[in-house]
Amino acid sequence: MKVAVVTGANKGLGFGIVRGLCKRFDGDVYLTARNEERGRAAVADLEKEGLQPKFHQLDITDHASIVKLRDHLQNTYQGLDVLVNNAAIAYQFNDFVPPPYPEEAQQVCHVNYFSTLDVCQVLFPLLRPHARVCNVSSLNCHESFCDCSPAVQNRIKTAIHTIEDVNKLINDYVKAAQNNQHLKEGFDKYPYGMSKIGISLMSAIQQKTFDEQGAEDIIVNSCDVGVGGWVATDMTAQYGVSIDKGALNPLFCALLPPNVKEPKGKFLYDAKEYDWWAT
Ligand SMILES: NC(=O)c1ccc[n+]([C@@H]2O[C@H](COP(=O)([O-])OP(=O)(O)OC[C@H]3O[C@@H](n4cnc5c(N)ncnc54)[C@H](OP(=O)(O)O)[C@@H]3O)[C@@H](O)[C@H]2O)c1
Repeated sequence: MKVAVVTGANKGLGFGIVRGLCKRFDGDVYLTARNEERGRAAVADLEKEGLQPKFHQLDITDHASIVKLRDHLQNTYQGLDVLVNNAAIAYQFNDFVPPPYPEEAQQVCHVNYFSTLDVCQVLFPLLRPHARVCNVSSLNCHESFCDCSPAVQNRIKTAIHTIEDVNKLINDYVKAAQNNQHLKEGFDKYPYGMSKIGISLMSAIQQKTFDEQGAEDIIVNSCDVGVGGWVATDMTAQYGVSIDKGALNPLFCALLPPNVKEPKGKFLYDAKEYDWWAT
């Protein structure tokens, strides 16, 4: 039996992605959520639509929780076929009150980048031939890239070759933010966009690594949402298109047919490669 996992899927885009996978993916689909009650309520909502997602708890910031999910997948399916890293947080598009800036930068990068990376590092050994990984990024990575200094842009374009390089870039930004030196050091002011730069860079490196390892048709891409860049969720104070429309691009990545040549390790916008570091 094939199996797909979506992180942060009790609401918003993740919920829409699970709905789409339940309709189109030939296998079990796991709606995961950090809060079990909210996750099970979301599963019940989809069951009312005649769909049959499964549930597993997953807080991406809790390493033990990721390991528990890995063990469950290993014991039940002996592998993983689709992973959609959707869970994330943001303060800038809604009326959530952000913590003080240094804390916001640390928190947003910890959840959106480092915790997503942890999910990948724990679950990737389960990926089977033809597996698809969709890391949900955002066009904000392009906007933040454009607002970085030429020196930081150059670093991003020419000096990031490994996951350690990405970690250092994001850590350098977070450290600079602790001392309010981030603008002086050439970083953008938005933690969310900086964290999504990490996701887009990480995805390209993950693909390169799979290719170097000779992995059989494993594809990793990052993406924005489906249409027009805004989806009506709590993250955007409900501004934008429906979650089903927003889910189209992530679903395109997650359901790429076997043995396609492209896209691989790319950032996708409306199902097309998008050069997020063009200025
Ligand atoms: N909405 C847009 O216009 C838009 C545009 C571009 C990209 N995106 C990306 O799309 C993805 C989904 O965003 P959204 O708009 O659907 O936001 P959302 O409605 O706020 O949903 C975010 C989801 O992530 C979960 N989450 C947060 N921290 C988590 C953690 N530590 N562990 C597990 N789950 C966690 C939330 O769970 P709780 O309910 O427990 O908080 C929620 O289920 C994000 O990666 C976002 O950056 C969104």
